[in-house]
Amino acid sequence: MKAVRLTELGGPEKLHIADVAQPEPGPGGILVRIKRAAFNRRDVFITQNLYPGIVLPRTLGSDGCGEVAALGPDVSGPPVGTPVVIDPQIGWDDDPATLNKNGSILGMPQDGTFAQYVVVPAANVYAKPSGLSDDEAAALPLAGLTAYRATFTRGRITKDDVVLVPGVGSGVQTFVLLYAVHVGAKVVVTSGSDEKLERAKKLGAAAGINYKTTPEWFKEARKLTDGGPSLIVDSTGGETLSRAIDIARLGARVVIYGGTHGDAKIRPFSIFWKHLDVLGTSMGSPSDFAAMLALFEGGKLKPVVDRTFAMDDVAEAAEYLLKGEQFGKVVLAID
Ligand SMILES: NC(=O)c1ccc[n+]([C@@H]2O[C@H](COP(=O)([O-])OP(=O)(O)OC[C@H]3O[C@@H](n4cnc5c(N)ncnc54)[C@H](OP(=O)(O)O)[C@@H]3O)[C@@H](O)[C@H]2O)c1
Repeated sequence: MKAVRLTELGGPEKLHIADVAQPEPGPGGILVRIKRAAFNRRDVFITQNLYPGIVLPRTLGSDGCGEVAALGPDVSGPPVGTPVVIDPQIGWDDDPATLNKNGSILGMPQDGTFAQYVVVPAANVYAKPSGLSDDEAAALPLAGLTAYRATFTRGRITKDDVVLVPGVGSGVQTFVLLYAVHVGAKVVVTSGSDEKLERAKKLGAAAGINYKTTPEWFKEARKLTDGGPSLIVDSTGGETLSRAIDIARLGARVVIYGGTHGDAKIRPFSIFWKHLDVLGTSMGSPSDFAAMLALFEGGKLKPVVDRTFAMDDVAEAAEYLLKGEQFGKVVLAID
């Protein structure tokens, strides 16, 4: 079968197509024929040696949508041909003290979805939500799950929240925007691009601030969130996170799932004086994944797909992600 392989580190241009043996499903496994895969920042970080536990050579890719191609010897369903999406969080343990200890994410260390076929545990295979195209369904798994847990399970969002979403162009943050608008909360976003701000407004954001052209964006954000956000969901880290915490309103929740810009200098005063809840989160549980898919069932809510690249153009797609020009998810057509 054809697969996108990474055999050496050195950036997106090291991604290449190769012929590899088609895997076979063992006990507890399902072989999925992939139709569409999608990129996450993680895939690019791995090519750049910016991710822990890299093992090479590997087929990257955490997101995938396709159909059941074969079942492991002890697996009874779903039937061959069923349209499915894959939960990329393997081996989630619901005990909060251990949940990431034994778990892993599809695409590293095990071979992932940037291939014509992938074998995954049967528990990670879910029916594709009706009303979504293959491109849309492939865009859901990793980003939709991470945003779901950050916004609902950890962030405990309600319609009365005023939410700050820094860097709305991000694959995950676009889902946070969708979810927050869906529950009826007021959402203020930031982005480095006016065009992305306009797109966010079309999706329901109440206001947007360009953090590149407004160096004191946080002052503007405080005003636009009526005195400070009650919920912040961030993966930027660095100064963005420090500023966001400074403007949070009394009793706000600050949910963090990434740190693209590295460490943040935090003022303890901002946290204790305002009784903030600062919450970490990463990916999500099987019940988060099922609840996330239910939101998209019927196609009333749709993920934002920026662009679909052909499999042969995988390196170009990864370069595109690196430039940060996308708004929403970047998809890879596998068939
Ligand atoms: N823990 C987890 O489970 C988990 C899951 C997924 C991702 N992550 C992490 O979350 C981060 C984002 O991932 P992703 O896949 O969504 O990335 P992505 O699609 O590549 O988006 C990155 C975004 O960061 C925003 N950004 C850059 N500089 C910024 C600044 N100074 N202030 C505000 N925003 C800024 C940009 O938004 P604009 O284009 O709008 O400016 C950019 O689009 C990465 O660090 C990733 O590793 C963690």
